[in-house]
Amino acid sequence: MIKKIFSGVQPTGNLHLGNYLGAIKNFVKLNNNKDNECIFCVVDLHAITTKQDPKELKRNIRETAATFIACGIDPKKSIIFNQSMVPAHAEGAWIFSCVSRIGWLNRMTQFKEKAGKDKEKASVGLYSYPVLMAADILLYDATHVPVGEDQKQHLELCRDIAQKFNNEFIKDNFLRIPEPLIQKEFSRIMSLKDGKKKMSKSDPSDLSRINLSDDKDQILNKIKKAKTDTLPIPNSHQDLKNRPEAENLLGIYASLIDKDLNYSIDEFKNKNFSEFKDKLSEVAIEKIAPISKEIKKLLNDEKYLDEILKDGSNKAQEISSKKIKEIKEIIGF
Ligand code: AMP
Ligand code: TRP
Repeated sequence: MIKKIFSGVQPTGNLHLGNYLGAIKNFVKLNNNKDNECIFCVVDLHAITTKQDPKELKRNIRETAATFIACGIDPKKSIIFNQSMVPAHAEGAWIFSCVSRIGWLNRMTQFKEKAGKDKEKASVGLYSYPVLMAADILLYDATHVPVGEDQKQHLELCRDIAQKFNNEFIKDNFLRIPEPLIQKEFSRIMSLKDGKKKMSKSDPSDLSRINLSDDKDQILNKIKKAKTDTLPIPNSHQDLKNRPEAENLLGIYASLIDKDLNYSIDEFKNKNFSEFKDKLSEVAIEKIAPISKEIKKLLNDEKYLDEILKDGSNKAQEISSKKIKEIKEIIGF
């Protein structure tokens, strides 16, 4: 069976190692399998659910596309486009917001985290954000959606919306129920400064994350300053309990070299962190520095990036306009 892959990344700057290991690395693998049809979307409509500077947003849209390409997604094999160029996303989001229930959205933990204490001041868009995400996926009949662990609940909501639409209009299997593709290990990379907090674009401390645009010296410095504890590296997974920073760094190492956590524990058991950090820096630089260099190179060629996005948007438009037309007919428009 051909897998139809859809995923999105917000162009909100500071794409980091968590985005890479939790999501983009998997996008590249899926892109390289010729049995897959892949669509990777720069979700700029999602980005404006929080305040964005227009100039920076424009730059970040190009930078996200550049990051996809620099990490190894081939625009000849996969569709790369930005959401705002394709009107069906906004139309679909409205229609699905009338299918989705307020009670379902009230359960979304990401909204609670992002809105913080003053929920009244959050945008309506931030609240209905997962409905737009459902439209993204359902318009392309995606069968599989590769994401990090934090998006699991949004995907469950997408499945509920599709199911309810199909039931309500008695259209079995019209909207395809998508499967999440969440890696078993390393689907949640934590901050370098606090092993209990997710590595995040919006963390005020740049030392909390390795950005995909960081150069060799920045990576070295951030790993050197990464929080650890005073014990040596243990010799079993069990002994990593209550040592979130150690577990996270060993996980990052394993993921960078495509091994599992036990492999890195075995390699470094009973050693101290300075020795481990030297090796971690080496592999992180080996992986990230070429990506960072390529992003910078691509960003110097705005025309090329704009062409990729335009070409991708035309292809996405062709697919999604058919689906939204069918959706409208089913509804009675
Ligand atoms: P975002 O930057 O929020 O648009 O996220 C883009 C993709 O990266 C999504 O699939 C997220 O689940 C994933 N992601 C973001 N942060 C992390 C993290 N700290 N660990 C693993 N995956 C992440
Ligand atoms: N909400 C996702 C995130 O913040 C991004 C996203 C938007 C997405 N639309 C999507 C992911 C569709 C997968 C499929 O990470």
